[in-house]
Amino acid sequence: MAKDYQPILPGDGDTDYARYMRIDALLSLQRSRAEMVHRDELLFQTVHQSTELWLKHACYESADAADLIRAEQPAAAVRLLARAGLGLHLVTEQLEMMHHLAPRDFNEFRAHLGNGSGFESPGWQGIRSCGKELADAFDKLLAARQVDLHELYLGDPDDPVHRLAEAMIEWDERVALWRVRHYKIATRIIGHGIVGTKGTPVDVLARLIAHKFFPALWAVRTGLTLAADGELDDGLDGALGDGLDGEPGGGPDGGADGASCPI
Ligand code: HEM
Repeated sequence: MAKDYQPILPGDGDTDYARYMRIDALLSLQRSRAEMVHRDELLFQTVHQSTELWLKHACYESADAADLIRAEQPAAAVRLLARAGLGLHLVTEQLEMMHHLAPRDFNEFRAHLGNGSGFESPGWQGIRSCGKELADAFDKLLAARQVDLHELYLGDPDDPVHRLAEAMIEWDERVALWRVRHYKIATRIIGHGIVGTKGTPVDVLARLIAHKFFPALWAVRTGLTLAADGELDDGLDGALGDGLDGEPGGGPDGGADGASCPI
């Protein structure tokens, strides 16, 4: 007897694909042509909405990675951090689509975005809080195992804690690379010296590029270079005290200069 391939899952939609993926709900989340003031709104919404989805996934993996670090399972955490890092890479790549949004066209619907701001992105808020969680979990792991970062980096690169440190710096770098790309795209479209939809000057974005979630992992490189140059004792304190974490407003979680930036 022929197998019956009719949909069997509960939910909306004509097919099991639609029901499982919740396609009807997903594809109803964009403004219809009737609601649009400009046809390029679909491009703009698609990039933002897909970014939120990938970041939801990246945060999900990062939060579980932090739990694994707390449980002293660095190898398992590395696997999840690699997924989160790839998600950050994908959202950076898809900013490329914004090259197809002309300044004139964006200005036609910019006023219709209300007071919405990228700082309100739940995906990016999640990334910021996961970064803090990861940093805290990693510090505690180093303390529990009495690991000195400088020694770790002179040791076996296959040591699970060394691998974890590299997965974390990869994560941190990918966040910064998104910020580089976003800053260039934003200024390419709206220009410099402009104040964003919620009052933040666009040039604040340039300063955020220097932010580091795991400053010690960047500083250890400075230490290695200074040590190789025979200048460790003289140079490391100066380098660390010289804004190595790069965050505007003082310190990794300080505010940005003169702006309503929550980071
Ligand atoms: C037309 C393209 C874009 C322009 C002109 C633009 C412009 C801006 C501006 C002016 C800011 C400063 C704060 C504000 O006023 O909102 C900002 C921040 C931000 N935007 Fe965009 N943006 C664009 C695309 C995107 C996309 C596709 C995303 C993806 C979700 C995004 C996410 C963010 C985030 C997360 C911030 C906070 C800054 C940070 O954490 O580094 N933006 N954007």
